Amino acid sequence: MLVINEISQLIDIIDGYKIQKKIIGFVPTMGALHEGHLELIKVAKKECYIVISSIYINPTQFNNTTDLAKYPRTLDSDTKLLSENGCDLVFCPNDGEMYNKNEVINIDFGAIGNVLEGKYRKGHFNGVGLIISKFFNIVRPDIAYFGQKDFQQFTVIKMLVENLKFNVKLRCIPTIRAKSGLALSSRNMRLSEAGKEKAVAFYNSLSKAKKNLLEGISVKEVIKEAKIQFEKEEIELEYFEVVNSDTFVIINSMEVGENAAICVAGYVEGIRLIDNMLLN
Ligand code: PAF
Repeated sequence: MLVINEISQLIDIIDGYKIQKKIIGFVPTMGALHEGHLELIKVAKKECYIVISSIYINPTQFNNTTDLAKYPRTLDSDTKLLSENGCDLVFCPNDGEMYNKNEVINIDFGAIGNVLEGKYRKGHFNGVGLIISKFFNIVRPDIAYFGQKDFQQFTVIKMLVENLKFNVKLRCIPTIRAKSGLALSSRNMRLSEAGKEKAVAFYNSLSKAKKNLLEGISVKEVIKEAKIQFEKEEIELEYFEVVNSDTFVIINSMEVGENAAICVAGYVEGIRLIDNMLLN
């Protein structure tokens, strides 16, 4: 597996693949890899001639400097895992490579950028939009792979691709979970064993809410019950909402057959976790 740090080098290599019309799959990551990321690599490997990943902790998508400082950095084991799972090339740039000094461009995603993750992590989607645009321009992938765990992120990237006419197909791969149901996340590395057990409440409450909504129980009742559950577990809840899964407009009462997602964010041991479940 090739490890590349410079954009110019990566562009030369990709030019070569493009001339040969090879299908390029791209899996962007911030490192601290787990089975969820490896699943994206494995799917990409089946569908593409070459699989490129990136490991870059993108500063512009963090609204909290402590969170950025504490984000796990495990480059050596990450590159080993990528190579063992069939990744052909990993791009590991530094900040100077990806950002000019005093960049001022902002991407405003409108309403979807102001709810849930957009509301509680101000500027987060602007940062995601910027880095993904840069990556897509450099890597020029045919297919890019993202995890469903960050479902709002996926929806925002879909909007980016549609509006800015990036010539890339997007794939959203279902969340990989631990046996307990806990969604795999790089942030789980910072949880104690007890914290991981506690965090199963995210999965349990989503499963229960999904079942109840499908049985016709009202959104209001379902959310009320979930909140009680989190209170019992002493988990600080940031949001628990049912949204339209295309627009992320908050749903207060379900229409029959409406495409919906239940989304949750909260803190366990001071670590911010998110999860979601689709209803359809
Ligand atoms: O989901 C992530 O790990 C990041 O948001 C991404 C897509 C790699 C952009 O930095």
